[in-house]
Amino acid sequence: MTNLGLSLFFFFFLLLSVSSDLEADRRALIALRNGVHGRPLLWNLTAPPCTWGGVQCNSGRVTSLRLPGVGLSGPLPIAIGNLTKLETLSFRFNALTGPIPPDFSNLTLLRYLYLQGNAFSGEIPSFLFTSLPNVIRINLAQNNFSGRIPDNVNSATRLATLYLQDNQLTGPIPEIKILLQQFNVSFNQLNGSIPDPLSGLPKAVFEGNSLCGKPLEACAETGNGTVITPGKGKSDKLSAGAIAGIVIACFFGLLLFFLILFCLCRKRKKQDNVESRSIEAAAPVAKESAVVGNVPTSVANGAAPVVNGGSKNPVVSKDLTFFVKSFGEFDLDGLLKASAEVLGKGTFGSSYKASFEHGLVVAVKRLRDVVVPEKEFREKLQILGSISHANLVTLIAYYFSRDEKLVVFEYMSRGSLSALLHGNKGSGRSPLNWETRAGIALGAARAISYLHSRDPTTSHGNIKSSNILLSESYEAKVSDYGLAPMISPTSTPNRIDGYRAPEVTDARRISQKADVYSFGVLLLELLTGKSPTHQQLNEEGVDLPRWVSSITEQQSPSDVFDPELTRYQAEGNENMIRLLKIGISCTAQYPDSRPTMPEVTRLIEEVSRTSGSPGPLSD
Ligand SMILES: *[C@@H]1O[C@H](CO)[C@@H](O)[C@H](O)[C@H]1NC(C)=O
Ligand SMILES: *[C@@H]1O[C@H](CO)[C@@H](O)[C@H](O)[C@H]1NC(C)=O
Ligand SMILES: *[C@@H]1O[C@H](CO)[C@@H](O)[C@H](O)[C@H]1NC(C)=O
Ligand SMILES: *[C@@H]1O[C@H](CO)[C@@H](O)[C@H](O)[C@H]1NC(C)=O
Ligand SMILES: *[C@@H]1O[C@H](CO)[C@@H](O)[C@H](O)[C@H]1NC(C)=O
Ligand SMILES: *[C@@H]1O[C@H](CO)[C@@H](O)[C@H](O)[C@H]1NC(C)=O
Ligand SMILES: *[C@@H]1O[C@H](CO)[C@@H](O)[C@H](O)[C@H]1NC(C)=O
Repeated sequence: MTNLGLSLFFFFFLLLSVSSDLEADRRALIALRNGVHGRPLLWNLTAPPCTWGGVQCNSGRVTSLRLPGVGLSGPLPIAIGNLTKLETLSFRFNALTGPIPPDFSNLTLLRYLYLQGNAFSGEIPSFLFTSLPNVIRINLAQNNFSGRIPDNVNSATRLATLYLQDNQLTGPIPEIKILLQQFNVSFNQLNGSIPDPLSGLPKAVFEGNSLCGKPLEACAETGNGTVITPGKGKSDKLSAGAIAGIVIACFFGLLLFFLILFCLCRKRKKQDNVESRSIEAAAPVAKESAVVGNVPTSVANGAAPVVNGGSKNPVVSKDLTFFVKSFGEFDLDGLLKASAEVLGKGTFGSSYKASFEHGLVVAVKRLRDVVVPEKEFREKLQILGSISHANLVTLIAYYFSRDEKLVVFEYMSRGSLSALLHGNKGSGRSPLNWETRAGIALGAARAISYLHSRDPTTSHGNIKSSNILLSESYEAKVSDYGLAPMISPTSTPNRIDGYRAPEVTDARRISQKADVYSFGVLLLELLTGKSPTHQQLNEEGVDLPRWVSSITEQQSPSDVFDPELTRYQAEGNENMIRLLKIGISCTAQYPDSRPTMPEVTRLIEEVSRTSGSPGPLSD
């Protein structure tokens, strides 16, 4: 009897202590959720923490917290240290800043720490190696850590992975004696010699530093800390003659350097002038057709040095490379002489419409900030040129030179969906009815599906309404596909451009799931008539997906629709709601919860079919 009572007592005691520890875990998670910025963590606080997204428990305690690519930003609050049973912690690919919080030292059971792809800064705390005896993998790559690599890496006896590449680390690599399976310190500012135990690793893991020694070049023999001199016979000191020699050499070297710099600057300035003139000159053509005769000559003059520069170098092809000739024949000279009208400034560069005298019209995009070398550029464009789909804008030709990268597309007379949705509605354009919008959604979905189906690594990378162009019959033609990986990420504007998936922190690291998110935003835009970059939405700190879900939760879903869409259309509402739901599912916060593009396409096909108008309709 007493035995039973005692065991019962212990049982309840155990239960109580377990639940109170879980309660502490819960508080820590909530402190994290409240303390971190960026996209809110969508946790149902009335449900137990072990059911929350990214949280895993074992024996009633939180053992794993994985929040990869969920759009968190700002510094981490002091909170995670209280998750004392944590074994796995992942915040990879967010936009977190600041130092690693000191309370991480309490995570004594931690085995896996993944913080890569954020903007963490400060020094790498040495407690990561001393206070976490079980740690196996530490990945701090692609952050902004500075200072030296701690000397006590060897204290982490079980460590197998240490990834520190793409940071701002300085100083030498400490003597690492533990047997690491994975190691990378490339692209930091480390110097000094590579410790012997690491000399068997591939060169690539050290590149982008000022390191020396095996496997890289041997270190310059510095004679036990002194500078090498030609006559190092007698003493460590430099002779007067040597000093004079060095001074004179430096002087002439500097002179030569400035001379070269001067020449380069002059040349550069000249070209800059020429370029800006040629494209600015293009703008007025549309408005003042009277000067059409003048302007093309200025465009041609401006471009002439570029063409000549190309022909001096035999490697550079002098003219356009064509993929299709069915649109008509022209050469670079003709293209530059054609009268031009600026169409817009896109993420990858400005585009203009070029009209030839014989009636041919094409769209030309001047790519800026191309970061890939010529060979890769040509290979990538060759692939893009081989793609052909009814809902993709046809790539006609391209031109590559050092100073100028042009891509020539078929011209779309109706302009972009963005202009049509958000442009001047009073200008007599016919309203976009439901059938047209559904047709545009389907066309765009098919094009992106097609891109995705070619290769699991291909994605569009820049889906937005200004890249959905419309043919004469309002058929969607997707443009700008496949260019994102070639353009410098710094040239893409802000992160909050409204279409970018929360996990995407680098515009060049794109994925098919990120495309699905952008496409979902596009669907919501098509249905609500609201621009995702709308000022009002941004000032409230709300993006279009969250605005839509906040309205649909509180009110009737039909309240979100574009008034222009519902005004003439009492029936068919049901299909609009179905399309809205597809858009919402595409914009799920976690990439894995989003459908694939083929699934999305199938769903939109069903909606269109029951609407009774499978294809696009001209009004
Ligand atoms: C962490 O634990 C300490 C001690 O139990 C407590 O005082 C503190 O409030 C906790 N912090 C959080 C964020 O839960
Ligand atoms: C949150 O969890 C509670 C309890 O599990 C449940 O009743 C409720 O429906 C959930 N709320 C949402 C919005 O999922
Ligand atoms: C966590 O570590 C800090 C020191 O960094 C310490 O002051 C604090 O008491 C620890 N918290 C727990 C719950 O152990
Ligand atoms: C990285 O850290 C340095 C200071 O250490 C700071 O000046 C710089 O702005 C940071 N860069 C980013 C991208 O956060
Ligand atoms: C490494 O760089 C630091 C600072 O730039 C310098 O003080 C140090 O002497 C360098 N060490 C070696 C071995 O070159
Ligand atoms: C090391 O990091 C660099 C830079 O991110 C990367 O290019 C390289 O492939 C990595 N090498 C290994 C072996 O992980
Ligand atoms: C430095 O000097 C010591 C003795 O003066 C010598 O044994 C050693 O080999 C030298 N090291 C280098 C790198 O020259």
